[in-house]
Amino acid sequence: MKNHLTRSIRFLVAGAALLLLLISCQTSPQAQIPAPTIQPTAVASSEGELSANPAQLPPLPYDYGALATAIDAETMKLHHDRHHAAYVENLNAALTQQPNLQNRSVEALLRDLNSLPEAIRTTVQNNAGGHLNHTIFWQIMSPNGGGQPTGEIAQAINQSFGSFDNFRKQFNQAGGDRFGSGWVWLVRNPQGQLQITTTPNQDNPITTGNFPLLGNDVWEHAYYLRYQNRRAEYLSNWWNVVNWQEVNRRWQRASQR
Ligand SMILES: [Fe+2]
Repeated sequence: MKNHLTRSIRFLVAGAALLLLLISCQTSPQAQIPAPTIQPTAVASSEGELSANPAQLPPLPYDYGALATAIDAETMKLHHDRHHAAYVENLNAALTQQPNLQNRSVEALLRDLNSLPEAIRTTVQNNAGGHLNHTIFWQIMSPNGGGQPTGEIAQAINQSFGSFDNFRKQFNQAGGDRFGSGWVWLVRNPQGQLQITTTPNQDNPITTGNFPLLGNDVWEHAYYLRYQNRRAEYLSNWWNVVNWQEVNRRWQRASQR
């Protein structure tokens, strides 16, 4: 009887142990921890610089058709999904030849182009520039944009150009005069002054020591579907979507440098 009782207890203990083992396998610590969320590298960080390890296409911060007062949905889709994506892809392909350079930010690559190996210098200039330019471009537009400038940038524009109308006129003129493909910018120059400037191709003002506050893309791919050869009309309508809040943020960031 005693032996029978001992066997029963052993059986129960073994059964309980097996049950515990099964439960622990089904609810192992790994299973209880939620799957890690993969955070994208700083692709369009508001404060940080763009990662080149690898460079990533940032999502548009609004729908393709959200800026229709200035730019049509099809242009936005092609511009972001094809053109910007190609700059990102080409930059990453170039940097696979020089993996040590992937540790630099996109901005750092552009600030010191002369330090890059000649074999990839122009490719990086064009494609890191294209990536940075377009990332800024999407951010400084908004469906809720347009109207008069606000905040500190409004005062700075008035002081530098006399009025917003004067500034806009000069900016549009510079954008219209930019021969071929390029960009027109409002920058903070190394002396801390506001300045209108243009760059060819995908060059970014940081390569020449200027901090871009606001930029408009005057490549034909930015406007041709809707405006054809009427670049001036595109330049004029573009002010309907300028995100002054973001321009102010960039102005503050530039002032802190
Ligand atoms: Fe573009």
